Amino acid sequence: MSNSDRGSLFASLDDAVVGRRREVELVVAALDAGRHVLLEGPPGTGKSTLLRAVANGLGIGFVFVEGNAELTPARLVGHFDPARVLNEGYDADVFVDGPLVTALRDGALLYVEEINRIPEETLNVLITVMSEGELNVPRYGRVAAASGFRLVAAMNPFDAVGTARISGAVYDRVCRVSMGYQSAADEERIAGRDGRDLPAGWLTKVVDLVRRTRAHSDLRVGSSVRGAIDMAAVASSLAGVRGSSVTDKSVSLDAALVALSGRVRVREGSTRTSEDVITELWSEVFEPAATGGAGKANAPTGATR
Ligand SMILES: Nc1ncnc2c1ncn2[C@@H]1O[C@H](COP(=O)(O)OP(=O)(O)O)[C@@H](O)[C@H]1O
Ligand SMILES: [Mg+2]
Repeated sequence: MSNSDRGSLFASLDDAVVGRRREVELVVAALDAGRHVLLEGPPGTGKSTLLRAVANGLGIGFVFVEGNAELTPARLVGHFDPARVLNEGYDADVFVDGPLVTALRDGALLYVEEINRIPEETLNVLITVMSEGELNVPRYGRVAAASGFRLVAAMNPFDAVGTARISGAVYDRVCRVSMGYQSAADEERIAGRDGRDLPAGWLTKVVDLVRRTRAHSDLRVGSSVRGAIDMAAVASSLAGVRGSSVTDKSVSLDAALVALSGRVRVREGSTRTSEDVITELWSEVFEPAATGGAGKANAPTGATR
C-alpha cells in the first residue's frame, strides 16, 4: 500500500468510523494480505460500520448477507429460475446469481453477518470456498474466485444461537479481529454524531447510564451504544412533544426506559424487572444526590431487594 493510498484511506475512514484505529488497521492489513476475516464482538460494537467504511475506502465491491436460519445454500449460492428451466432447460442464462456467486465472480468482499446463525450446510459451502477458492454448482459448473474475493464474517461470541458450531474448520481459515466495547469518550462521539444540540454534559450521562447496564449484577445482557443513540434521539423528540427540555427529570427517565428497557436482559433468578433496574441506574447517574452519590445502589421507587 503506497503512502498516498494510505493517507486517503485513513482520511475517508476517520469520517465514517469513530476511533477503532487499531481494528481498522488490522482489517485493512488482513484484507490486503488476501486473507478472510472474522470480526467477533457483541452487537453494536461497530462491526458493520467498520467493514462498510473499509470496503468504501479501499474502493472494493461489497456484497452484504444477513446470516439467519433461512439462509439456505441455494439462497447464498443462487438458483435456476424454475419457470424458465421448464422451457429453456438448465442453461447458464437461467441461473440467478446469489450473493456468493456475485462476490466470487466480481472479486468482491462477501460480508456475512451473524455467521453463527446460518445452517450447517450453508456454513460448509463457505468453508469449501475458503479452502478451494472456487465453487462447484450442480448443472451450472465451476465458479472460480476472481482475485480480490474475500469472506468477512461477523458474529457475537455470546450469542445463544449456534456459536458453538463455528468450528475449528472456520476459525482455521480466517484471521480474527476482536471488537470489544469502545471507550466512554468514543461512545459519546458516536451517540453525538447526528448533530443534535444537547446541553453540555448531558450525553456524557447517557453514555454513563448505558455503560452501567453492562456491569449491573441483575442484568445478563447490557445495552450497546445503540441504546445511547436511541435515548438521545427519543429524549430530544420527547422534549419537543412535552414542550420541555432533555434535562427535565421525567423526559430523561422516560427516554431511558423507552430506549433501554427492551435492550437489556434480566439475569435468570432475579426477581426484578428491566424497568426497575434502568430506573435505579438512571437515578445513580442523573440524580446522584438523591441516591447518596454516583455508584451507590440505593434503589429508587419500585425497586425491592
Ligand atoms: N466506531 C463507530 N463509528 C461510528 N459509528 C458507530 C461506531 N460504532 C458503532 N456505531 C454506530 O452504532 C450503531 C451500531 O453499529 P454497527 O456497526 O451496526 O454494529 P454491529 O455491526 O457490531 O452490530 C450504528 O448506528 C453505527 O452507526
Ligand atoms: Mg452488524
